[in-house]
Amino acid sequence: MIRKLQRVSGSLQQAKAELRWMKDAVKSYPIDKQQEKLDWFITRRLRHVPLQYILGSVDFLGLNILTRPPVLIPRWETEEITERLVNTIPTMDAFPNTGKELSKITKVVELCCGSGCISLALSHYHPSLDIDAFDISKSAVRLSKLNQRKLNTNVDFQIQDIFKHKFKDYDLLVCNPPYVTPSEYENLAKSLYYEDKYALVTKDKLGLEFYEYISSLKISKYICFEIGEKQATLVQEILQKNGYSSIVYKDMAGKDRSIFATSQFHS
Ligand SMILES: C[S@@+](CC[C@H](N)C(=O)[O-])C[C@H]1O[C@@H](n2cnc3c(N)ncnc32)[C@H](O)[C@@H]1O
Repeated sequence: MIRKLQRVSGSLQQAKAELRWMKDAVKSYPIDKQQEKLDWFITRRLRHVPLQYILGSVDFLGLNILTRPPVLIPRWETEEITERLVNTIPTMDAFPNTGKELSKITKVVELCCGSGCISLALSHYHPSLDIDAFDISKSAVRLSKLNQRKLNTNVDFQIQDIFKHKFKDYDLLVCNPPYVTPSEYENLAKSLYYEDKYALVTKDKLGLEFYEYISSLKISKYICFEIGEKQATLVQEILQKNGYSSIVYKDMAGKDRSIFATSQFHS
């Protein structure tokens, strides 16, 4: 059975770890139900259901975030970016042209919030922030609100299509938008098909439509974007065109993964 799991999870080491996590998870069930539950977990995993959906939650910066299909599962890359954000408030020294004095960051907006992981972490570690978070998906906002109730944070989650919503001004905008191109999507791992396609894929060929639109809104002094590994130069150009200087950061795997930008025009 471990060999079958290995085919799904990629390596023997990973398969063993996944089996251990599933065994740990069934311990919360009555003893006479545990084997049946474990068999069901394994059956689903062999059908390529992501482990995080099977286990029902993930750790994200020390917070337990519920995971339910088809809402995007929080990724470690996003966790790294959020950690940088959490640590840079209030000096904002991870952004260009800042860091000499404390910035007054109070109003934050997250676009495309999914499970709510980024906003929930920001609110947990900086409870005084006033955070709005939007997503077009009803299941995503429902899950964000469930997570919020569990974590006792203070974020205003709303169902909104960001291409139609009329925004007010904010100090900081953070967004991990869909950025996978339609052709890249065809070659992704099977387990990704359990997540909402429109949480991942853009309609345009380069995966840039969200960056183009959001940068053109010019509603915040600071912008933090997660990006695809090949998009850094193009997204920096988009930001520059809209009056933002920016810094690219790599993820733990050495790939360009986020852009922190400061507007030249906001005071
Ligand atoms: C890559 S996921 C990011 C989720 C979450 N922020 C995270 O990092 O785990 C992108 C999210 O964008 C949402 N989305 C797609 N199109 C949108 C739109 N037009 N307006 C608002 N949200 C949208 C999807 O529903 C999805 O939850």
